[in-house]
Amino acid sequence: MHLRLAIISVLSCALLSACTERFVADPDAVREGQRIYLQECAACHGALGGGAGPASLGLSTIPPDLAGLKQRNGGYFPREFVGRFIMGRLEKDDPFSPMPDFSAVGLRHVYPNGGADGEVLETDFANLLDYLEAIQR
Ligand code: HEC
Repeated sequence: MHLRLAIISVLSCALLSACTERFVADPDAVREGQRIYLQECAACHGALGGGAGPASLGLSTIPPDLAGLKQRNGGYFPREFVGRFIMGRLEKDDPFSPMPDFSAVGLRHVYPNGGADGEVLETDFANLLDYLEAIQR
């Protein structure tokens, strides 16, 4: 009897962990993404992604909390949406909002000397998204 109970509990644990989707990012990618985030985004979105960073004083729209994207989206990190938003491929709620279109301005603080031709490199972009996914609460 006890053995059967033990088997059932082991099986349900295995099933539960198989069903719980967990984001496991490469720590180097996350670290690199954080470096980019701190230079390009933190002034507006806060050092920890909580929104309303020091540069948001006086902005017409308050930069939202980025660590709560998953929570606000039914427990799923909207990677596609975030990517499109950063690259200016989505219409903003406020067309005059100060959120930069990074496909136009590039990562100008990461490459102040115009490296990467002002373009956002695929790896930088992927690392940034990995970092944002990793900080979701
Ligand atoms: C100059 C300030 C500023 C900078 C720099 C900035 N943002 Fe934003 N961001 C905003 C504002 C303001 C909004 C709200 C715009 C809107 O909703 O139309 C916003 C919105 C967003 C959103 C949409 C969030 C939501 O809940 O809809 C994402 C994602 C985002 N920013 C990511 C980033 C990332 C990543 C960076 C750095 C690569 C960055 N932002 C840099 C000001 C900024």
